[in-house]
Amino acid sequence: MTRAEEMTSGNDNRMPREPAAAAALVERYRREPGAGPLPWNEVLATLLSHRIVRAYRPDPVPAPVLAMAMAAAQSASTSSNLQVWSVVAVEDRERKARLAELAGRQRHIEECPLFLVWLADLSRLRVLGAERGKPTTGLDYLEGLMLGVVDATLAAQNAVAAFESLGYGTVYIGGMRDRPEDVAQVLGLPPDVVAVFGLCVGRPDETRPASVKPRLPVEAVLHREQYAGPVPAALVADYDAALRSFQAEQGMTQSGWSDTMLHRVRGPEALSGRDRLREALVARGFGLK
Ligand SMILES: Cc1cc2nc3c(=O)[nH]c(=O)nc-3n(C[C@H](O)[C@H](O)[C@H](O)COP(=O)(O)O)c2cc1C
Repeated sequence: MTRAEEMTSGNDNRMPREPAAAAALVERYRREPGAGPLPWNEVLATLLSHRIVRAYRPDPVPAPVLAMAMAAAQSASTSSNLQVWSVVAVEDRERKARLAELAGRQRHIEECPLFLVWLADLSRLRVLGAERGKPTTGLDYLEGLMLGVVDATLAAQNAVAAFESLGYGTVYIGGMRDRPEDVAQVLGLPPDVVAVFGLCVGRPDETRPASVKPRLPVEAVLHREQYAGPVPAALVADYDAALRSFQAEQGMTQSGWSDTMLHRVRGPEALSGRDRLREALVARGFGLK
């Protein structure tokens, strides 16, 4: 349990709340927060203590837990109330194994009891239009895909917050976009539907605990009124140092952030097959005009 969690757990109302907020910020940024009062509540405690979990206990996720996570997902805002997203819940061992293989052999997909595949889903409206003889060519633009991706992402992140608030761990799986046609085949997706990402869900295996990963200093991402220009080198250096200390604690290679990220964006060969995503999307019926 982190210091921030300790300070909000149980019913100990004697604990001052502001120090818990400060502790959570130190954990997230690995530097002291500025002076001044900080708001704090259980929602913030859940959000700020997020860390991915790649090791799970085998216990199934109970149906009521999935039901509440889905209600949280469907409570997210959705562009114009279009609700152009869906999710496939996969618990079947063999289907998870096949999806794990399609995502570059990620073992946590096989090990998690519940694997959720979040979809940009234009098919509901397409079918409705066809049934009523109404045109739906407004879906054939890049904006159609953007609507589905944004909607699916907001929904998924609400589900993640719900799962984490209930003591479950998760990890997103972008690897669902490595081979989109094969994923579509495994999940029986109709045209106009594509997997945006997967999400492993399960009770964290306490023998392999995960930690809060530090983030870029907020000044690197928060711009006031207008975009402030490139991030100062000193901030990147600070963050590289923070991430190296995190990596050292985790027994990982101390590669820092900037070099690793530049390596990941070096070219199409680093995209695990996603350099041909446009082609796959067009094949799945997305217009992308
Ligand atoms: C859209 C998305 C796709 C991701 N894909 C993968 C993945 O395929 N495999 C994996 O192990 N982690 C994946 N991750 C997890 C990220 O690597 C992780 O969230 C990031 O390193 C930050 O760590 P944290 O979430 O613990 O703070 C993904 C995260 C996101 C948001």
